[in-house]
Amino acid sequence: LRPGTAAVTAVRRALDDLIVMGDEDQLFETEMDDFYKQVVRYLDEKSTRVELDWEKVKSPKPEYITMYKDLHSPADSQIREMLNNLVVLKLNGGLGTTMGCVGPKSVIEVRDGKTFLDLTVQQIEFLNTTYQVNVPLVLMNSFNTDEDTAKIVQKYSDHNVSIYTFNQSRWPRINADTNLPIAKSPETVPNVWYPPGHGDLYKAFSNSGLLDEFIEVGKKYVFVSNVDNLGATVDLNILQHLHETQSEFIMEVTDKTKADIKGGTIIDYDGNIRLLEIAQVPKLFVDDFKRVKKFKIFNTNNLWIDLKAIRNLVDSETLDLDLIINKKTTDSGESVIQLETAVGAAIKYFSRAHGVNVPRSRFLPVKSTSDLFLITSDLYILKNGKLDMNPARTFQTAPIVKLGDHFKKVKDYQARFKSPPMILELDHLSVTGDVNFGANVTLTGTVIIVANHGAHIDIPRGSVLNDKVVSGDLRL
Ligand code: UTP
Repeated sequence: LRPGTAAVTAVRRALDDLIVMGDEDQLFETEMDDFYKQVVRYLDEKSTRVELDWEKVKSPKPEYITMYKDLHSPADSQIREMLNNLVVLKLNGGLGTTMGCVGPKSVIEVRDGKTFLDLTVQQIEFLNTTYQVNVPLVLMNSFNTDEDTAKIVQKYSDHNVSIYTFNQSRWPRINADTNLPIAKSPETVPNVWYPPGHGDLYKAFSNSGLLDEFIEVGKKYVFVSNVDNLGATVDLNILQHLHETQSEFIMEVTDKTKADIKGGTIIDYDGNIRLLEIAQVPKLFVDDFKRVKKFKIFNTNNLWIDLKAIRNLVDSETLDLDLIINKKTTDSGESVIQLETAVGAAIKYFSRAHGVNVPRSRFLPVKSTSDLFLITSDLYILKNGKLDMNPARTFQTAPIVKLGDHFKKVKDYQARFKSPPMILELDHLSVTGDVNFGANVTLTGTVIIVANHGAHIDIPRGSVLNDKVVSGDLRL
């Protein structure tokens, strides 16, 4: 299937119809043209069944990964200039669907009424004030998140941080059988449009005009990270390393544990550095991919990228990020496909690109309410918008927490805890079924709580559960 074949022509026609309805909206037209190129690629790859050649997939060469402990701090005289060259960008376009968020994940309150966004602003403001610099904060939003984000951001207009926002693209889902967009008009109807993954950053940042604006005022690098990762602070040692190595792209990676087996990893592919995501791995080799021994590290999505290099790549139109095919079923039962890309996949295009193996503390993502449970607890202390593990915890590793389906959505989770339990000495927690927690509960050691189908358990306020199994039906 090449452009011109029936399937491709049908997609082009459907997109042209949408563009006509779009009332000469130039940005919308650009988005649809970008989308068209990806659909053509998708149909092409589907028909030729291009699969990764697993024989060529090797563990990364030693020079691809620098250990964080081998980096050093910049001289005091260099810090201000380095920081003034930096832009911080947070990926804030996703909805956090895994946690049932209907608005952006970044507006969830983490502690003291402060959201992820508030804490991010606090981090940058602290940096600007401490070093007397001007590091701007940029938020990449999507049509799903820009409204709620704007409400929080406006509070900071008179603070010591300049905040910029732009929206990433909006692409139509396609029907899995016909491959045609399911959108009937350019209007934002739920379930029809989606933000096409954070790989969209390069084009969207450029389309927004902000990339050029920053280059013009002398900014050199952008530090990109997920907005829900409160461990992703500006690190001066990495910044110094970036300047020293003149690298155009640094990916922070960290050691894999059994819980991270699905994370993307840096590999050597046919002699070149590449990011490998689980979605790209042929079924037969998925177990191989998950092996902690072969691929020891994974991508934290904390990335340091040269702004001019982004400009050149977008201009040369060579940026072809690996497609991630995300299959979904709509509420009305229609099988649809979302074509997405990941920001880290661009590693292969940049000069002197490599990974820095950072301590786990720089990766504190909130993918589930079990993660939220940890970061809202006394296990962490908040310092200038950054979460550090409480030094009062004997072992500086997080406990293993599994909250069941009754806690899956943020709304349900919040309703089930009167206040975050104290967990400084917790090792394992597993909660299944209809369970509610009163205020000031302390959990230590291994705690298992099981409310079987039809049963309900209330953990009374002030309870101290130490190495305990609770089951049955316990109502207050
Ligand atoms: P993930 O893709 O890991 O997803 O995004 P998520 O939004 O956190 O949660 P789920 O998978 O929907 O439950 C990592 C980061 O990238 C941003 C998210 O906001 C998050 O900060 N992101 C994701 C975007 O900015 N745009 C996108 O299109 C997708």
